[in-house]
Amino acid sequence: MRILLLFIFGFSLTLAFDNGLGKKPQMGWNSWNKFACNINETVILQTAEKMKELGLLEYGYEYIVMDDCYALKERDPISHKMVEDAAKFPNGIRSLSRRIHELGFKFGMYSSAGKYTCAGYPGSLHYEKIDAETFVNDWEIDYLKYDNCFNEGNSGTPQISYQRYEAMSKALLQTGRPVFYSLCQWGEDQVWDWGSTVANSWRITGDIYDSFDRYDDRCPCQTYDCRAVQGGMCSMTNILEKAVPLGQKAGPFSGWNDLDSLEVGNGGMSTDEYKAHFTLWAILKSPLVLGNDVTDMSKEDFNIVTNKAIIAINQDDSNPAYRVWKKPVSGGHLHLFTNILKDGTFAVTLFNSGNKVNNTVLNFEDIFLTDRVNAAKSFEFTELWTNETTLVSKELSTSIDAHSVKIWWLNCPKDICNKTTSVMHDEL
Ligand code: GAL
Repeated sequence: MRILLLFIFGFSLTLAFDNGLGKKPQMGWNSWNKFACNINETVILQTAEKMKELGLLEYGYEYIVMDDCYALKERDPISHKMVEDAAKFPNGIRSLSRRIHELGFKFGMYSSAGKYTCAGYPGSLHYEKIDAETFVNDWEIDYLKYDNCFNEGNSGTPQISYQRYEAMSKALLQTGRPVFYSLCQWGEDQVWDWGSTVANSWRITGDIYDSFDRYDDRCPCQTYDCRAVQGGMCSMTNILEKAVPLGQKAGPFSGWNDLDSLEVGNGGMSTDEYKAHFTLWAILKSPLVLGNDVTDMSKEDFNIVTNKAIIAINQDDSNPAYRVWKKPVSGGHLHLFTNILKDGTFAVTLFNSGNKVNNTVLNFEDIFLTDRVNAAKSFEFTELWTNETTLVSKELSTSIDAHSVKIWWLNCPKDICNKTTSVMHDEL
């Protein structure tokens, strides 16, 4: 019997996907939201240099990811390898990658599990091995974002999609270099059910659009389980609604729901809306991947993406937040979320997606649900955007502006919430 159990256990260990990465949501920068196809050596390098100068690496932003449009449209006719576009990369992608590594960052690239990438460059379907070797051996990548365009009909059931993404997963593992593997399958074929068995993170929706709540028919789905085309042009709150019920599918032992790169700094939302966007992505444990031009970033935007306490919640060894309630208000809803952190402390987030200021009461019964012991205690509530601390018992009465968020860490550890100063993160 023991031998049988050992055999079964050993067998399941060899089957599990483990490249040693993805214990925390990844943090970094991706070129797509701001630059789309307008990338080249200068854009990527200047971004890395500026991120270094701003200290963003120390905040955790470690991956510099170059998205679509770096290759020539045709593969090499003899080797069948992808060919870098020498006009965009006069010194070659390898030299770019080395420079990024010298700066202390990790380097990421992009491909598609299809015949072409979404912008029409060569995709890796049926070329997984050769491309994984090019990415690793020639370009020394540490991260691959793997898209879904031109998949030649190899989709429509979870298993068919799974096989397509598994092929690249295996090819990357076979190179022997740890490569963070980030699926970009837009939430089709219930990727949240199987993504963790081949990858470190998985996109759960169509592309983000830099808007708080603008409706767009090109993002037809309003909930995660919509069977229609996932589309793109999805507003921040559209993605939020799809992400919340899927929190239970993500965590330190599986991997992460990817809500798409951040739009902070791209100009489509107000400062309060960007604070809400950043906070919600952080508590739901989405990857925190900047998507703006960091070489031209306002002080407000820098301060948003460098809120150390909110980053600490995102990077904490715990599961995504769960939503306790959602109540209709003018133009939207009030939403209450709870995070239970590794050390047993709690974070509570109140989000007003409506268009008017609201007064509300947060009952401890709601925050702690069935946990009567905690519901009877008093807590120091430290609000993480203002750094104000208040001692609270039983309930917290508060008011919240339109399109805004408040987030409190209850009895926040002193090394994270510096309760002696009013500004808790560094200034630009
Ligand atoms: C989309 C993907 C975007 C971006 C783009 C590149 O499918 O969702 O994030 O990578 O392709 O063409």
